[in-house]
Amino acid sequence: MSLEPFSPPTGEWYHPDEELVKNTHVPDYDALYQEAMTDIEAFWAKQAEALEWYEPWERVLDSSEAPFYKWFIGAKTNIVHNALDRHTKTWRRNKLALIWEGEQGDRRSMSYWRLWQETNRFANVLKSMGINKGDRVTIYMGRIPEIMIAMLACAKIGAVHSVVYGGFSEQALADRIEDAQSRVLVTADGAWLRGGIVPLKETADEAVRRSPVVESVIVVKRTGQDIHMEPGRDYWYHDLINLPIASTKCETEVMDAEDPLFILYTSGTTGKPKGVLHTHGGYQLYTSTTLKWVFDMKDDDRWWCAADPGWITGHSYIVYGPLILGATSFMYEGAPTHPYPNRWWRMIEDYGITILYTAPTAIRGLMRFGDAWANRHDLSSLRLLGSVGEPINPEAWRWYHTVIGKERCPIMDTWWQTETGGFIIAPMPSVPLKPGSATRPFPGLDVDVVDEAGNACAPGEDGYLVIKNPWPSMLRTIFGDPDRYVEQYWHRYEAQGWYLAGDSARKDEDGYIWVIGRIDDVIKVSGYRLGTAEIESGLVSHPAVAEAAVIGIPDEVKGNHIEAYCILVADAEASDSLVEKLKDHVRHEVGPIAVPTRISFVDSLPKTRSGKIMRRVLKARALGLPEGDLSTLED
Ligand code: WTA
Repeated sequence: MSLEPFSPPTGEWYHPDEELVKNTHVPDYDALYQEAMTDIEAFWAKQAEALEWYEPWERVLDSSEAPFYKWFIGAKTNIVHNALDRHTKTWRRNKLALIWEGEQGDRRSMSYWRLWQETNRFANVLKSMGINKGDRVTIYMGRIPEIMIAMLACAKIGAVHSVVYGGFSEQALADRIEDAQSRVLVTADGAWLRGGIVPLKETADEAVRRSPVVESVIVVKRTGQDIHMEPGRDYWYHDLINLPIASTKCETEVMDAEDPLFILYTSGTTGKPKGVLHTHGGYQLYTSTTLKWVFDMKDDDRWWCAADPGWITGHSYIVYGPLILGATSFMYEGAPTHPYPNRWWRMIEDYGITILYTAPTAIRGLMRFGDAWANRHDLSSLRLLGSVGEPINPEAWRWYHTVIGKERCPIMDTWWQTETGGFIIAPMPSVPLKPGSATRPFPGLDVDVVDEAGNACAPGEDGYLVIKNPWPSMLRTIFGDPDRYVEQYWHRYEAQGWYLAGDSARKDEDGYIWVIGRIDDVIKVSGYRLGTAEIESGLVSHPAVAEAAVIGIPDEVKGNHIEAYCILVADAEASDSLVEKLKDHVRHEVGPIAVPTRISFVDSLPKTRSGKIMRRVLKARALGLPEGDLSTLED
């Protein structure tokens, strides 16, 4: 595997099978794209008819306060009505919504009817705890059905969920609780991972100590070890849902299309994590439409999005998108290699999975173990594959295509972001593929690669990825910080009114887009989006560290790994044991996913005259590359 995996050769075409194209929802991408671009508002209005609305919209799009766009103005809705309520009135009530397997091999499945009832019961619990429309609830759990139930229950009563990924730790969780001002935290005693227990409740206790805004903690019993339960604050989930107040009937709150649905924290350039805000109306339309067309979802599919519900991929394509379509999803709790590296392939065979959607890092991680683990299993149920989170390198693409897809299954490489809510650049099964490119924009989207001044780049030339028009599931703001929303995404191309994605990319002669990577201080580690600032402040919160800088270094499996440079305080001594202590400290403060692979102690860091650390220079040095323009370097 090369260390430069992200500039794959262009021109290698994969043409879809004619039979497959004939039977897809969108056999002609070009025609649909044209139709959409002729009248974007009419296009989305037409798609919105697939959903139920309590009251129709007066207007599709309001740009009068751009970039604070509004969609489906005046419409009344609730995403849970479309994801659950309406299915309980059709044959779908008996269809499986969720098939789940725990890492230990335990199994559960739920029909739409059952998931709806469980959601109602928990929604009533939340209401009885004083949670009302607009209140925030933080959810911190592993991949178990209750995470889905908790999210849906919040949405049902109009509360705003903020899911924090279970791989984050104390300070990261505390900061997100504090920013959202959540009075209720829903968590679990632990999560199973690689045969061990991730002590979620222990971490939650410390986070709540640091952010005492939380009044009640609801705990799902999953791993069963002894945990501390604070009297008057902590409640067992199973006790609460068995109370008489937890009835299976619960009115769905009538929401405005633009009312907030959730906050999801993500990282960007410097500073604390940003609470990306999504709303009920546009988001429900966009997630369901994109999933239906890109993955050609049919009623007899068994869909497996192997992401974590704690990230946007899980929100849009484990929870909301599939449920709105009335699909059957599979969810797996644990690690792909537990107890052996055939775990995923065994489950595809066992459950007859038809579509697998995962990240290149997972593919590379499993590819390392060779073909034999996959070849032991019958993977013939698969018909489509998907990729997300980072560019997919040619080796991983070929392995995925040959060993997993047996050269029958096209790979849908989907480019999008927490902020976009759904796929922005992605093929459909009818679109010819070029491995490594997410191909072309979704209908209704004008996406381009431009230079600093906003001129379109020539084919093959690197530039900034921009989205030139609004779309229904775009983020509406940064929670509590509208200025940052404008500054971060709309400032650079203010005159043109374009959205700056934060990625560099190039377009080829065929109009195919090749995303190269982030242009800001975001590091993608195993597909997870981390901010340098958060990891650095984790390091600096250790008493031995005066200053820290972290960078992402290309990694064969993870895409990137983290390397850190620390300046120690005067009386601290550099040693191997300090390196271990610092790693442990980051593990506790930020989370296991943020732990640097290497920590070096240095006397100074390259900075600009205004004191900003030049990570670009650190990275060039670490990779032995030219350091580039140093005119702004202080020393
Ligand atoms: C990167 C994940 C190349 C990109 C859904 C983006 C990708 C960031 C792809 C968003 C892809 C995502 N090809 N790069 N198919 N998909 N990215 O918010 O850098 O966790 O800006 O959303 O992931 O990460 P986020």
